[in-house]
Amino acid sequence: MPSADPHASARQASSEPGSWGHASAWAGTNIALVKYWGKRPGSMNLPAAGSLSLTLADLGTRTSVRFLSKAVSPDRPDEIWLNGAPADPAFARRTSLFLDRVRSLAGIDHAAHVVTENTIPTAAGLASSASGFAALATAASRAAGLALSPPELSRLARQGSGSAARSIFGGFVEMAAGTAESGEDAVAHQVLPPESWDLRLVVALTAKGAKAIGSTEAMTHTAATSPFFAAWIESVDHDLADARDALSKRDFGRLGRITERSCLRMHASAMASDPGILYWNPVTVAAIHELRALRSRGVGVYFTIDAGPHVKALCEAENAATVAQALASIPGVLETLIAHPGPGVSVIEQSMGATA
Ligand code: PMV
Repeated sequence: MPSADPHASARQASSEPGSWGHASAWAGTNIALVKYWGKRPGSMNLPAAGSLSLTLADLGTRTSVRFLSKAVSPDRPDEIWLNGAPADPAFARRTSLFLDRVRSLAGIDHAAHVVTENTIPTAAGLASSASGFAALATAASRAAGLALSPPELSRLARQGSGSAARSIFGGFVEMAAGTAESGEDAVAHQVLPPESWDLRLVVALTAKGAKAIGSTEAMTHTAATSPFFAAWIESVDHDLADARDALSKRDFGRLGRITERSCLRMHASAMASDPGILYWNPVTVAAIHELRALRSRGVGVYFTIDAGPHVKALCEAENAATVAQALASIPGVLETLIAHPGPGVSVIEQSMGATA
C-alpha cells in the first residue's frame, strides 16, 4: 500500500542495510513556443531542429531514486512506482532503460527503487515526460554518486525525452539542435530567467484520456511521409532567431505571433503525413477561434497546441483571468488552469552510503 508520503519508502531505505544511495528531485514541465518536432537518426534521441520553451511553476514531477546494493537482473528488476501505484509495463520499461544509461555513466549495476509523483492535475493534458525525465535524470544521477552540471543533466534528460532537456532550466529556455552524433551539443540553456517576464500560459482541457499517438511515433511518421517535413524543419531556425530577439526586447506581440505560427506549422507537417496525424478535436478549433476573436477585440493572446487536443494560451499576466474565462465559456472545455513561469530542476534531498 502506498504511504501518505510515497517518497518516504525511498528515503527511509537509504539508511537501511542494502541501500546504496538515494536522491529526490523536482522539475517543472515546459511548453514549447518554438516547437520541437522531428529527430535525427540514431539512438541518442537527437532533435532535427532547435526549440524554445517556457518552464512552468508548480506543474511538474517529483521523483525519488534509491539504488539498492543488489545488482539489477531479470530476477531483481528495478521497482518503479508512478502516482502511488506500481507503474504500467511501458512506463517501467522506459524508466529502466533510462536508468541503464545512468548506471553505465556511473559505472554501477545496482537495481533501483523509483517513486514518481506528477504534480500536474491528472487529466491536465500537459506532457509529463518533460518534467518526468528532467526529475529522473537529476535524482538518478545524484543517487548514483554523480554530480552533473546543468548542461550535462540536460544532455542526459534529452535521452529520455527531447523536451525534458529544456526542463532542467527555468524560465525561457532554448534547446540547440546540435550537429555532433554524440549529442554533445544537443543541449538546452536558459535565455531568460522566470522572473524576467510576467507572462502566463492558460491551459484549456478539451478532452479526457490519453493522446491517440505518442510524440516519438508521430515525429518518425511525419519525417518519413510528410512532404511538408523538410519545409517545417527549414523554418525553425528563423523562428528561433526571431523569438530570441522578441525575448530580448520583451516584445509580446512578436513572441505571440512566432508561437502561433510555429504551432500551426508543426501541426501542418503532421497533418500532411500519410495517413495524416490530427491531434485536434472540434473544441480545439473552437478555442483557436475564440482566442483570435479575443485578440481582435484588443486582448493580447496567442495559442499553442502540443501532441494532443488541449489549447495553451500565452498572454500577459493582466489578461490571464479574461483569457481563462473566455476559454472556460466554450462548450466542451472541461477545465482551465493558469500557469506561470517557474524555476529549473531542484534536488530536494540526497544521501549516500553503502551499508551492505
Ligand atoms: O519530448 P517529446 O518527445 O515528448 O516531444 C515533445 C513534442 C511537443 O510537445 C509536441 C513539442 C515540444 O517542443 O515540446
